[in-house]
Amino acid sequence: MTMRVYVSRDAGAVAVGADEVALVLGLAASKHGLDIEIVRTGSRGLYWLEPMVEVATPQGRIAFGPVTEFNANSVLDAMISGSPHPLRLGVADEIPWLKRQTRLTFARCGVIDPRALADYRAHGGYKGLERALTLGSDGILADVTASGLRGRGGAGFPTGIKWKTVAQASADRKFIVCNADEGDSGTFADRMIMEGDPFVVIEGMTIASIAVGASKGYIYIRSEYPHAVEAMNAAIAAAKRGGTLGARIGGSNHSFDLEVRVGAGAYVCGEETSLLESLEGRRGIVRAKPPLPAHKGLFGKPTVINNVLSFAAIPFILAGGAKAYADYGMGRSRGTMPIQLAGNIRHGGLFETAFGVTLGELVDDVGGGTFTGRPVRAVQVGGPLGAYFPASMLDLPMDYEAFAAKKGIVGHGGIVVFDDTVDLARQARWAFEFCAIESCGKCTPCRIGSTRGAEVLDRISRVARTSDRETTMGLLRDLCDTMTYGSLCALGGLTPLPVLSALRHFPEDFGLSRSDVAWTG
Ligand SMILES: Cc1cc2nc3c(=O)[nH]c(=O)nc-3n(C[C@H](O)[C@H](O)[C@H](O)COP(=O)(O)O)c2cc1C
Ligand code: SF4
Repeated sequence: MTMRVYVSRDAGAVAVGADEVALVLGLAASKHGLDIEIVRTGSRGLYWLEPMVEVATPQGRIAFGPVTEFNANSVLDAMISGSPHPLRLGVADEIPWLKRQTRLTFARCGVIDPRALADYRAHGGYKGLERALTLGSDGILADVTASGLRGRGGAGFPTGIKWKTVAQASADRKFIVCNADEGDSGTFADRMIMEGDPFVVIEGMTIASIAVGASKGYIYIRSEYPHAVEAMNAAIAAAKRGGTLGARIGGSNHSFDLEVRVGAGAYVCGEETSLLESLEGRRGIVRAKPPLPAHKGLFGKPTVINNVLSFAAIPFILAGGAKAYADYGMGRSRGTMPIQLAGNIRHGGLFETAFGVTLGELVDDVGGGTFTGRPVRAVQVGGPLGAYFPASMLDLPMDYEAFAAKKGIVGHGGIVVFDDTVDLARQARWAFEFCAIESCGKCTPCRIGSTRGAEVLDRISRVARTSDRETTMGLLRDLCDTMTYGSLCALGGLTPLPVLSALRHFPEDFGLSRSDVAWTG
């Protein structure tokens, strides 16, 4: 009987030697005359255990990790004999880190062969599309709206409303655009799902195309993601061969074609209008809104533009029904969020769970605290434009409104952890520097304000103990107000968020007292 072994081909696993492990396993197996099939999957998201290798057994898949090219031979022996091994993790699905998740979007990631359409189907794939084809536009829009899904790219805008706007727009052509620029620090969920379950993204986009009447779609992927580009291209070709993409999908009257486009690596190209400029072949500069992309988007046509995770949530919603998704979550944050744990954390990786989980549960219980073993001092949630929260605020639940009430953002669900050696004054300065480097330059508050901001912060640390302090603080306040209310897009508009949160919660790092920063709220 063929022995089936699973090794991740995810870029994160490959970076720590998954290809070499697969090679050694293959060579060792042929030396033993063993009939072996090595299936290259995506990652399950337990990155500290990569390369994680699994073997199919009657009890389920048994996992080992982290495996290296040097111990792969002994792991193979343990797989054959079933004898104990120090790297044996037990049945993969029973690993507590995986078991306590609610994997609706990432259910297949790390499980299936991302190149095999048949494997996708065998694990429930394309059930959503089948139902969507019978429902038609109105039914799909009703389901997506009722699911409560909000865009996972950062702004949390209701997906149902966006799709409805495009559906109601009349035009000779409409487009579906998938935003896979994933520029936020500490985030990797888009990459992971594109590499580990690309068909779910294609299925979600195809359902969107039926909902709004679009015939063409683009996936805009950052150039730093070559593995994802390859995976998406291979899946698009397979879907076309399988009749689930292209002309007359699944024998219906609906046709939808999809192409990958690779960005050149600018953070601002993740901003939707800038992305559209880039897709059209121009420099990535933000467009003034209105018109919204839903009315006048790609090539001036009504366009749905959504994050990878927003599209990837759609097949579950259509297959299982809106309620099955909406039953998870809290308040107006429905469903699950693929949380990405990064930075100084012991167990970093992807953890999909319902909204409502607290930061403390994620950082301490799930993540196991810091990698260095020192106390957690701060976490930044939502990428480079997200707020820094102190350890005393880790009871904050993951929820768009709860975060907004504490002057923070959930963003794309990335959590970056810092221990007690972090200098928040440096982090705050970096926020301005980042904005200065990445600014598209279209509006003054961001283009000039970001550089002036870094200068003012330098001055604050110099004058912290002098009479000049109040004047300088006033200057910073005015500058932050100008950027917040005067910037054309959220790059300039949100940069004050990390700066002000650092001042508010960690004034001592700036040589200031709590009363000095009372104005930050
Ligand atoms: C500076 C900046 C960078 C952004 N980067 C991304 C990104 O990398 N990926 C993404 O999906 N959305 C990003 N966004 C948000 C998009 O503009 C847009 O809101 C999103 O693609 C809409 O999809 P959603 O509704 O599914 O979230 C960014 C916004 C700004 C202002
Ligand atoms: S805020 Fe910055 S990135 Fe956004 S439009 Fe203005 S200059 Fe460009």
